[in-house]
Amino acid sequence: MGRTIGFMGAGKIVEAMLTALAPAFAGDELVVWNRTPARAQSLASRFPVRVAASVRELAEASDWIFIAVKPHAVAKVVSEACLHVREDAFVISMAAGVTLDSIRGHFASPPRLARIMPNLPLSVGMGMTAVCADPSVPRELVDALLALFSTVGRARIVEERLFDTVTALSGSGPAFAFLFIESMADGAVLNGMDRVQAYEFAAQTVMGAARIVLDSARHPGELKDVVASPAGTTMAGIVSLERKAFRAIVMDAIDAAARRSRELNS
Ligand SMILES: NC(=O)c1ccc[n+]([C@@H]2O[C@H](COP(=O)([O-])OP(=O)(O)OC[C@H]3O[C@@H](n4cnc5c(N)ncnc54)[C@H](OP(=O)(O)O)[C@@H]3O)[C@@H](O)[C@H]2O)c1
Repeated sequence: MGRTIGFMGAGKIVEAMLTALAPAFAGDELVVWNRTPARAQSLASRFPVRVAASVRELAEASDWIFIAVKPHAVAKVVSEACLHVREDAFVISMAAGVTLDSIRGHFASPPRLARIMPNLPLSVGMGMTAVCADPSVPRELVDALLALFSTVGRARIVEERLFDTVTALSGSGPAFAFLFIESMADGAVLNGMDRVQAYEFAAQTVMGAARIVLDSARHPGELKDVVASPAGTTMAGIVSLERKAFRAIVMDAIDAAARRSRELNS
């Protein structure tokens, strides 16, 4: 018998999870509740998921509950759910910035609690998911959560104090990478390349470079040295980036996103 997995929320990340994790959820019953029922109905028309009429119905039915509403709405849905969540349930919040402490505080007798920060590339099997569980959660449950998200990319345990950093790095990171890919392609279009082909070349190049970093475990700077031959084209590009403080700009972007995450949570 599979588990019953409940989703509170029916937004982009739940849709991505239902798409990508379908094989991992085989044998499980999936239930979704959403404030706007039409959005849950829309998921039910495309995925094997049942719509719960209320937070209570979802809470009572579920072995695992993913909280996937906007961060400001978490307190409200958890306060509605807390009396109905089963004692042995596993409650997993993916809301940016909402701490385990703040969720635990709603329960007289807290269930097993974890916090995750997945990212959208899980929709293409290349996600990066941070996992942090309450110390009371049995290791095999944490392993099951890591195993679930490992089917759609990588999943690692990260201390909760680093979740704002992870939100900036892997949560917001895809948007920074999209910007970089767009800019690289624009540079190629400026030099006469067709736009569609430019996006393909830029995206495949970034993906390939990332693959080398992960597979070789070599320092990115060392890999840069391998590509940049003396007096060559790559060095000309690198010096242009360095003159405009490219690395400081990117560091600042991660820092600004992490600061914004902390601000939203204070
Ligand atoms: N997208 C990502 O890459 C990503 C990655 C990691 C974590 N997350 C987290 O996942 C959560 C959902 O993100 P998303 O990208 O899926 O957002 P989204 O597509 O904008 O969906 C937002 C969800 O929150 C619900 N919601 C908003 N205000 C509500 C309220 N006052 N009461 C009850 N429900 C409310 C929405 O319900 P309605 O349909 O009724 O508006 C919808 O289900 C967020 O907490 C976010 O931090 C997202």
